Amino acid sequence: MLDGSSVQSQAPLPRHVAIVMDGNGRWAKKRFMPRFFGHKAGVDSLVKTVLACADRGIDYLTVYAFSSENWKRPTEEVSGLMGLVLVAVAKYLTKLADQGVRIRIVGDRTEVSDKLRAAWEHAESLTQNNTRITLSVCFNYGGRWDVVQACRQAIRDGVPPDELDEARLNGYMALAHTPDPDLFIRTGGEVRISNFLLWQAAYSELVFTDCLWPEFGVAELDSALAEYARRDRRFGGVKDSVPEARRA
Ligand code: FPP
Repeated sequence: MLDGSSVQSQAPLPRHVAIVMDGNGRWAKKRFMPRFFGHKAGVDSLVKTVLACADRGIDYLTVYAFSSENWKRPTEEVSGLMGLVLVAVAKYLTKLADQGVRIRIVGDRTEVSDKLRAAWEHAESLTQNNTRITLSVCFNYGGRWDVVQACRQAIRDGVPPDELDEARLNGYMALAHTPDPDLFIRTGGEVRISNFLLWQAAYSELVFTDCLWPEFGVAELDSALAEYARRDRRFGGVKDSVPEARRA
């Protein structure tokens, strides 16, 4: 699927990259280790990827860290993932903040613990003025949840139905602080979207790779960027007719 050719300096660069970080469990299993070990390695992979994206001039990276459906996993895996967030914040927040990363958490925070919510709030407030790259971590997130919460908020605000167009609804979506993703990557060999960014990925270029997330690195990122550069984006129109509204 990816040929690994290098990215030319003038090649079109996605402004916003979104990633489904899949394959942690299989990566751990191959090493006869518990799934948690794979998630832990996945955090290291995420940090490397954020910094590599920033180095390449990508403005936004959005990752799927915990889906609305992930609560169905075994209790110890769910609590392991929650604990891992706290460990990751303690281990990497200062480094990311120093590197100019702005962190935003996207998803339903009502169901997570007070401790986790406080860690998210701390990460967001510490990094709120950073401008090099925005990392949006989707946690307890689902694309359908996002559409529903946006509609509910618009109704609560009393938006008249006739005035609720795409742009107005987009302002209520959980990723209103980003333009739509240009490039959507999924690791781990599955070829599906799995309820990630259903609204925002309408015109994203999709790249699927067999690489398991803990093995994803600079080479795989550059392969995906090279693949993106070869794509012909038309947004449903003809070449060079990209609607301004989708390029915000
Ligand atoms: C999918 O792999 C991965 C997840 C459900 C979790 C992703 C989370 C991380 C990489 C950690 C991010 C943490 C922070 C702090 C943001 P899988 O478990 O479904 O793997 P499998 O398909 O091989 O079983």
